Amino acid sequence: SIVSTKYRTAYHFQPPKNWINDPNGPMYYNGIYHQFYQYNPNGSLWGNIVWGHSVSTDLINWIRLEPAIERTTPSDINGCWTGSATILKGGRPVIIYTGADTEKRQVQNIVFPKNVSDPYLKEWIKPDNNPLIQPVGQGLNSDQFRDPTTSWIGPDGLWRIAIGAELNGYSAALLYKSEDFVNWTRVDHPLYSSNASTMWECPDFFAVLPGKNSGLDLSAAIPNGAKHVLKMSLDNCDKYMVGVYDLKSDTFVPDTVLDDRRLWSRIDYGNYYASKSFFDSKRGRRIIWGWTNETDSSSDDVAKGWAGIHAIPRTIWLDSNSKQLLQWPVEEIESLRREEVSHQGLELNQGDLFEIKGIDTLQADVEIDFELTSIDSAGPFDPSWLLDIEKHCREAGASVHGDVGPFGLVVLASDNMEEHTSVYFRVYKSQEKYMILMCSDLRKSSLRPELYTPAYGGFFEFDLEKEKTISLRTLIDRSAVESFGGGGKLCIMARVYPVTVINGGTRMYAFNNGTSTVKVPQLKAWSMRRAQVNVKMG
Ligand code: FRU
Repeated sequence: SIVSTKYRTAYHFQPPKNWINDPNGPMYYNGIYHQFYQYNPNGSLWGNIVWGHSVSTDLINWIRLEPAIERTTPSDINGCWTGSATILKGGRPVIIYTGADTEKRQVQNIVFPKNVSDPYLKEWIKPDNNPLIQPVGQGLNSDQFRDPTTSWIGPDGLWRIAIGAELNGYSAALLYKSEDFVNWTRVDHPLYSSNASTMWECPDFFAVLPGKNSGLDLSAAIPNGAKHVLKMSLDNCDKYMVGVYDLKSDTFVPDTVLDDRRLWSRIDYGNYYASKSFFDSKRGRRIIWGWTNETDSSSDDVAKGWAGIHAIPRTIWLDSNSKQLLQWPVEEIESLRREEVSHQGLELNQGDLFEIKGIDTLQADVEIDFELTSIDSAGPFDPSWLLDIEKHCREAGASVHGDVGPFGLVVLASDNMEEHTSVYFRVYKSQEKYMILMCSDLRKSSLRPELYTPAYGGFFEFDLEKEKTISLRTLIDRSAVESFGGGGKLCIMARVYPVTVINGGTRMYAFNNGTSTVKVPQLKAWSMRRAQVNVKMG
């Protein structure tokens, strides 16, 4: 197989070598952002999991530290799995994480910083009373009991924590309470449970204010009009529900309950899993981190010596319609932009390919606004497509002519187009509104065999009277293509391994394959500098 260091990302987070998965315990403390992650110190496949640790002042450039939590006690000897950080009332941080114990049962453990005046919090202490929480009690299964959330304080002044679990064979975010953060008791009902699925991994629970992109601290008083979001990881993707946190019953009550989990909203419609958010008290925003796996083969990963990256941290907030989360790469990423090219007033007619030249097409940030000239010809939307959007993407593919769209970007393309990845929109009419399909089609992304190359896709509603243009932002980073449609309404993260990346130059185009003309009032693209993601501590 062909593997190459050229596939290593230049500004998406990854350690120098070996396997990583979930982001763990992200937090901001005393001027420093901490990023922990599931890490195999011994190789590039999953196993021997410890908590890797890096610190940063800007979320983009990272100093690499020694692992923060290692497999040293009976309650984590078989793995230090996912968990979260909480800043206690006095401002001291703690972490609760899942350990796989001597019997491979999943238990919850706590660690404290050894020295809070160490700016990097390098060392973490395991008290003797671990595990704090055991998989005992009605309906629990000791190998489906993990990934505690950040804790929050309820109106009674007690701490709460949610844990992903299988409860009587169904999915649940279990609720535990504590006065002192050490003694935890299970509440007689879960925070939320659903019989639409089995185990939920990595639950995340947070408060948001509709239409405001400032974040909320989950332990602060809940402002009027606030909503809560419950995120869960299942079926290889991160889904979420918007609802309210009912303080009387101490439960999460979703605004809408959909029995068919294929219809649940997703944080990202591509390769993105086990995400975790935190409140950034420095900038007053909520930031979400997710893990993106390789989509080459395991033997490729062994040959490469590394596997897994993290998506660019995203600011996350709730749309004013209270239905949909919006996400945008943290603005610090813009510090990596160098040469800028910009074009105004382009017009893309059917079949047009407009080449974007003058930047490094392997490491780029591109923002395009598309304006439709005629919408009347948009084809009708069929709600059954929502059950299998990837299938619809394959059928509505970028090279198939439509009415309004497909139009979008072609990236990482070889000279002869034998290899290319397309990210595009197609517009459909659905009664009073429009439904926009956004697709990231990897089917032609590489000539190499044994790759997973789906056509990822999702739909979002669009009010073309109010919004006028449909925006696309794509971050290209060698083997990563991370796209944001409609100003952050829909995100698609993808991994690709084109042979042209190894050989050097790739090309990038804006295109339109629909019959109706599309205007591009504004197109901007930048080369992206390499970030310092593995600076050794001096
Ligand atoms: C999610 C997950 C978690 C678990 C961790 C183990 O990717 O399976 O549920 O804690 O990874 O590495």
